[in-house]
Amino acid sequence: MTEQTERMTNPQARGDDRLDMAMRPQRLKDIIGQDQITQNLEILITAARQRKEPIDHVLFYGPPGLGKTTLAHVLANEMKVNIRVTAGPAIERAGDLAAILTNLKGGDILFIDEIHRLGRAVEEVLYPAMEDFALDIVIGKGPAARSVRLKLPRFTVIGATTRLALVTAPLRARFGAVYRMDYYNVDAITHIVTRAAGLLGVGYDDEGIAEMARRARGTPRIALRLLRRVRDFAQVRAEGTITRPVAQEALDLLEVDPLGLDDVDRRVLSTIITKYNGGPVGLNTIAASIGEEPDTIMDVVEPYLLQLGFLDRTPQGRVATRQSYTHLNLPFPDTNESAQPALFG
Ligand SMILES: Nc1ncnc2c1ncn2[C@@H]1O[C@H](COP(=O)(O)OP(=O)(O)OP(=O)(O)O)[C@@H](O)[C@H]1O
Ligand SMILES: [Mg+2]
Repeated sequence: MTEQTERMTNPQARGDDRLDMAMRPQRLKDIIGQDQITQNLEILITAARQRKEPIDHVLFYGPPGLGKTTLAHVLANEMKVNIRVTAGPAIERAGDLAAILTNLKGGDILFIDEIHRLGRAVEEVLYPAMEDFALDIVIGKGPAARSVRLKLPRFTVIGATTRLALVTAPLRARFGAVYRMDYYNVDAITHIVTRAAGLLGVGYDDEGIAEMARRARGTPRIALRLLRRVRDFAQVRAEGTITRPVAQEALDLLEVDPLGLDDVDRRVLSTIITKYNGGPVGLNTIAASIGEEPDTIMDVVEPYLLQLGFLDRTPQGRVATRQSYTHLNLPFPDTNESAQPALFG
């Protein structure tokens, strides 16, 4: 396990997150937050049911850990259909996808995680499958080769990606519904943590929950992970109840600060500020300076810092904002100040 995957606040899934499966909402009404998306899905489902048709192809995009996979399963439950789960990198050849497609039954959902990582040749097979429910296969070789069109049952593709920009335009165009998942507000996260604490049977008070919710970066997966670690701490160091001081102490020990930033986030900010005068500085330069992968910074660190308003993305590179100086207790350089003495002095 690399250092990066061990981060408490890494929103990407880890081994011990499997325990969350038991807490995964099963029905649309159990989904907390994301009201706009759930309302739209409700309409999508109801309309499809009334017409006795499968739902349109759906694409979810947004930062990791916000519930894209959860929603795909919820849609399958609501439509009472089978869900076949795969991922972009797992479908290596066009033939792999053809095999999956020919095994689908009418109405089935094919969930393709990390859909931005599908190969070109595989995508070519997916286009007619999504559009015309047809599979074009080539029989024979050389001059004798001919193409045969196989009919597929009507099915639904649900795609998920953390990188919409990497989904090719023709693929994106084949989704009838595209939803952006955004960070949850503190209320929704509070609700999610409270529900999970109840399911885990751990003692808590509202202030203890609030402390965890505030540090969860608006991400259910992180919220649930913090809860598990704080529960351990409460059990070992306190009397099993998660109160504010218990949560604070546990989270400080895990180096998750009051806004949910961890060591890597703070290093990114302080590198921009102290090494590059606050920026602008390129992503690869930042990554190299702190010894992290550019992809990690882009997927995991940056979205939350942007959301907090700690970082600006400009064509020249990343710039640290005044708020990030304040959070790190560093003096904000006032560029006007140095010019003023010359003017007024
Ligand atoms: N609205 C919600 N209410 C309660 N729990 C949620 C909600 N959304 C997600 N979760 C929980 O958060 C965890 C992460 O969700 P999920 O695996 O669906 O995220 P994801 O967006 O697919 O992430 P990734 O991009 O890494 O695949 C799940 O285990 C689920 O239990
Ligand atoms: Mg997922």
